[in-house]
Amino acid sequence: DDILHSPSYPWEHLGLVSSYDCAALRRGFQVYRQVCATCHSIQRVHYRELVGVTHTAAELVAMASEVDVMDGPNDEGEMFERPGKLSDPLPKPYQNEEQGRLANGGALPPDLSLMVKARHSGQDYLFSLLTGYCDPPAGKSMLPGLYYNPYFPGGAIAMPPPLNDDGVEYEDGTPATISQQARDVVQFLNWCAEPEADARKKDALTYMLVLGFTAVMTGYYKRFRWSTFKTRSISYVK
Ligand code: HEM
Repeated sequence: DDILHSPSYPWEHLGLVSSYDCAALRRGFQVYRQVCATCHSIQRVHYRELVGVTHTAAELVAMASEVDVMDGPNDEGEMFERPGKLSDPLPKPYQNEEQGRLANGGALPPDLSLMVKARHSGQDYLFSLLTGYCDPPAGKSMLPGLYYNPYFPGGAIAMPPPLNDDGVEYEDGTPATISQQARDVVQFLNWCAEPEADARKKDALTYMLVLGFTAVMTGYYKRFRWSTFKTRSISYVK
C-alpha cells in the first residue's frame, strides 16, 4: 500500500570508471554530524578511516578529541572518560536500544553504516525518502508521531523530516538546499557502506586490461601453433 518506487537518479560516483567526489563526501559527513547523528549511529566507521577522504588527519584528530569516550577498566578496575582519538568509532547517540526507542516514540533509528546496502535501490531510495516528505493524501489520517512519506513502506515513518533548506552551512559555499544535503549525505552513506569502491573499480580496470591482453595473446598463439596444419589442409583440399 501507498508505496512509491524511487526514480533512478544519475549518481556520478556509480560510473564504472568514476570515483567518489571527496568534496561531496566532506559535505555529506557534515550533514551526518550536524543532522542525522542526533538520532542515528554509524558505528562501523572510525575516524581514522576518514583521513584523506573527507578531512586531513589533523582535522580528524581535533574532531575526535571533542568527544568524551568511555574507556576502561584501567589498572584500578575503574571505567574512565577520555577524549576521543582516531581509532574510535563515530560516537553513537544512544547507550542502547531502549534509550533510542524512548527518545523516538518507540521507533528505533537504525545504524546507518550499511543502510545503502540494506534497502532496495540503496542510494535512490535514501534520496527519495529524505526529499519525499509531503502532506498525506486527503482522507488519510496519521497517528501522532508518524509522518507521511510515500517512499517508506506503509507511508507512515517515525522519523520527522530531518532536512531543512539551509539547515547546515557548507564551508565551500555550496547552497544547502534540501536536495543538495540529501545528495551529499547519501553519497557519504554510500562511502560508509562501500569505502573500497574506488579501489575495487581501479583493480577491475587492471584485471580487464590484463584479461583482454591475455585473450589477444592466446588467440595469436593458437593461430600461430596451428598455422602449418591449416596451410597443409587447404593445399590438400585443392
Ligand atoms: C529511520 C536516514 C535523521 C529518526 C531512518 C532510515 C533511514 C534514515 C535511511 C531507515 C528507513 C527505512 O527503514 O527504510 C536518516 C538520515 C538522516 C536522518 C540520512 C539525516 C539526514 C534522523 C533524525 C531523527 C531520525 C534527526 C530523529 C529526530 C529516525 C527514526 C527512524 C529512522 C525514529 C525509524 C523510522 C521507523 O521505523 O518508522 N532514518 N535519518 N532520523 N530515523 Fe532517520
